[in-house]
Amino acid sequence: MADRPKRILSGVQPSGTLHLGNYFGAMRQHVALQHEGEAFYFIADYHALTSSPEPAELRERVREIAVTYLALGLDPGRVAFYRQSDVPEIPELNWLLTCVTPKGMMNRAHAYKAAVDANAGGEPDDGINMGLFCYPVLMSADILMFNAHQVPVGKDQVQHIEMARDIAQRFNHLFGQGQALFTLPEAVTEAEMQLLPGLDGRKMSKSYDNAIPLFDGGAKGLASAIARVVTDSKLPGEPKDPDASHLVTLFDAFSTPAERAAFRAELRAGLAWGEAKKRLHDAIDREIGPMRAKYEQYMARPELIEEQLLIGARKARAIAGPFLQQLREAVGLRPFRPQAAAPAPAARSAAAALATFKQYREADGQFYFKLVGAGDTLLLQSAAFAQGRDAGVWVGKFKKDGAAALAGAPVTLVADEAAVRAELDRFLQAE
Ligand code: TRP
Repeated sequence: MADRPKRILSGVQPSGTLHLGNYFGAMRQHVALQHEGEAFYFIADYHALTSSPEPAELRERVREIAVTYLALGLDPGRVAFYRQSDVPEIPELNWLLTCVTPKGMMNRAHAYKAAVDANAGGEPDDGINMGLFCYPVLMSADILMFNAHQVPVGKDQVQHIEMARDIAQRFNHLFGQGQALFTLPEAVTEAEMQLLPGLDGRKMSKSYDNAIPLFDGGAKGLASAIARVVTDSKLPGEPKDPDASHLVTLFDAFSTPAERAAFRAELRAGLAWGEAKKRLHDAIDREIGPMRAKYEQYMARPELIEEQLLIGARKARAIAGPFLQQLREAVGLRPFRPQAAAPAPAARSAAAALATFKQYREADGQFYFKLVGAGDTLLLQSAAFAQGRDAGVWVGKFKKDGAAALAGAPVTLVADEAAVRAELDRFLQAE
């Protein structure tokens, strides 16, 4: 397990219309990180249930997140992108972890304490369900199920990752028999991950009603929000202080250093706020506009999204299933039949069937290949290719060079790296 590729995992809770703050503070980084190591991103719809959403509304929010990630360029061929509720191994692990989690640890969770504080003067646990109380355990299951090394999150989530580490350590100690069953995850909070100000200059947040929507409302939605950015009442021609305006902070987030300098100079020289808003709009729309077009295309094709999410769930379950089996055994949930000894890999006869490469086209029109081993287990999954030929070229390379072809290959290892490498190298001996 020591030299697996770095695994990155994060979840987004579907809890409201996505705004530029969500994009700038989290989703954009997630998409950028897909090229580093193996990435797992999911929609935390089980977590959303803790706040008792309207069922129809929940479904809409889940769809919005899925479509937004795809529009932002998340490549489902490269990343495992799934809905939490499509992976039943997660709630099962949640239970195993619940049973080793001290209740006192949950009492100290910030989110729970804030809910209790909000009840000051009344019943402390009023309106608090057990889902909310146990939220950090489910989050631990999300992370530990895939032995993620790094979890990119906002600062408000760091305590949850620390709890996941504590729970993992406890479980390893109780059931690992000297071996680490779980990898201890680390929170990654980007130092430069700034918060974006909202229309009124406070942190952009749907609870302050000061958000600029990402795609909601289309091009018009963006324009009308920007028209409402609060400025001082200096007239056109009057010099303006760029450092005192959150409009400038917003502009900075979507522009180059040269553009930032020029914008400041113009404001000092008296640029009208109306004109400044136009510049801000154009800077944002330059980045968001092309993605909005993709967003609208995907929104019109719900079946495509469903299919992508199910591919993601399959990838996730190919890892979660066997690992959960191991964990069940570790805690003593074992069948009565005698334990079949696992066949030693070395003893496997040379004649055992090779894993096979399968090339195929998905409904998204893109080409893919995958490597499947005995019992149809998925070992390796390719990214999407626009041309079927390019997928074929990679398959040819793997057959010729074995595991050496992994370097730089646009693939995700679904099974344990050493096992996949061994399978690939068998093609060399077969030549
Ligand atoms: N609690 C996270 C949030 O609100 C969402 C989440 C759920 C998550 N499970 C996770 C984040 C696992 C990272 C890893 O932002």
